[in-house]
Amino acid sequence: TAQPAGSDHPGWSRSAYAALSYKRHQRSTREGREEDSPCLQHPQPGTTWLSEIMDMIYHDGDVEKCRRDAIYNRVPFLELKAPGEMSGIEQLESTPSPRLVKTHLPVQLLPTSFWEKDCKIIYMARNPKDVAISYYYFHRMAKIHQDPGTKAEFLENFMAGKVPYGSWYDHVRGWWEKKQQKKILYLFYEDMKKDPRQEVQKILQFLGKELAEGIVDRILHHTSFQEMKKNPAANYETMLPILMDHSISPFLRKGVSGDWKNHFTVAQNERFDQHYQKLMAGSDLHFQMEV
Ligand code: PPS
Repeated sequence: TAQPAGSDHPGWSRSAYAALSYKRHQRSTREGREEDSPCLQHPQPGTTWLSEIMDMIYHDGDVEKCRRDAIYNRVPFLELKAPGEMSGIEQLESTPSPRLVKTHLPVQLLPTSFWEKDCKIIYMARNPKDVAISYYYFHRMAKIHQDPGTKAEFLENFMAGKVPYGSWYDHVRGWWEKKQQKKILYLFYEDMKKDPRQEVQKILQFLGKELAEGIVDRILHHTSFQEMKKNPAANYETMLPILMDHSISPFLRKGVSGDWKNHFTVAQNERFDQHYQKLMAGSDLHFQMEV
């Protein structure tokens, strides 16, 4: 599993991308370590994209080092336990600090140690229409999920929060509100699509890290959709076929903003908009539905 090269980087002290630790190399169970970096989000907002960017940053843009293992081993998934595989927690226990950790947990379920150890947290959000479509295809191909039914049925379940990890609205709003009290970098998939360089610079600034322009260029190239789609260490093709069936839908499916327009009917879109207005009322959190 991953051994990020950044343990001696001053900018990485007390950083966190998805789970964390007490002291360097000290083992913990399901708790955060001071030097870890957790990445959080409701499913399908671009977690894998952000994970690849983070691993590249940790390795100063060294592409070969970032091909050392599959992304789900380089950035363990805190709450995952797949049949016959090490759990995310077991993987994390054997990963030296600073660790990168992926989680989709809602704010109220994040282990308290993440807050106690003052880990740096990056949250990525994506507009709910694209999340719903991406999540629908993910349900079809990822065998840990139940059959999603028809697209229309899945959309209803998504709006009602009857999907794994619950309500998208509660999730994005919960983390957005937490941002008022805690230092959290809150990113949007749509901004990342529009100007990935600017977003990578935001991440670097948040982590207190500087990288030469050429290294940033390499990170942007390596983490582009086209590059990640053909990279076996990033595209999940090494995942056991009983867990993911890429012939149904590739994990890196389209990688665009606004794909929902190819899927929603006019009536579904109107209903979704009304529901969105109701559930986001009173919030200053706004989403761009396309880029
Ligand atoms: S998961 O299963 O929740 O961890 O999935 P997650 O990685 O969060 O989201 C998957 C969607 O992210 C898209 N993706 C990207 N888009 C643009 N650029 C890059 N580099 C990239 N990497 C992953 C991926 O294609 C999924 O979105 P859709 O809309 O289904 O294509």
